[in-house]
Amino acid sequence: MTDRQITIPYIAAAYEELAAADRELVDKAREATHRSYAPYSHFYVGAAIRLDDGTVVTGSNQENVAFPSGTCAERTACYYAHSAHPDTAFNTIAIAARQSDGSEIAVPVAPCGACRQALLEYELLAGHDVRVILVGSKEVYILPSVRALLPFAFTEF
Ligand code: THU
Repeated sequence: MTDRQITIPYIAAAYEELAAADRELVDKAREATHRSYAPYSHFYVGAAIRLDDGTVVTGSNQENVAFPSGTCAERTACYYAHSAHPDTAFNTIAIAARQSDGSEIAVPVAPCGACRQALLEYELLAGHDVRVILVGSKEVYILPSVRALLPFAFTEF
């Protein structure tokens, strides 16, 4: 029997400390929350993906009266990005969220398990790490890769 540990590397930073390109991506994720369709949860999520060529693609959560038919912001963004730009790798994704009173959540929003799995597929396709920026009103977390968010990932069968 062996005791093992996995540690998750990430940087906690203030928005003002981010590089200009990352600040821009955070701004776009925040803007995308305003295009969320969330009449059921009233939780408005936005995602912005920068591709390796600099293109930025955004998405937001899109809910449905048949609840499972809705989808998260991260998957809207990554499916849209890869269907519009199938030959260009993802570089960085930023995710932001607002609550029913319109205020941004304080603790950086963390993608659900299904979105982590979906994003990992595009990291593998990219052939390099895809940085993940989780946005909160007080601080921002920067993860070096999607893999860091999903250590025991399902990657082949
Ligand atoms: N949601 C996202 O879009 N991304 C996340 O990371 C967490 C949850 C959405 C799904 C649903 O529309 C609403 O937020 C409440 O769960």
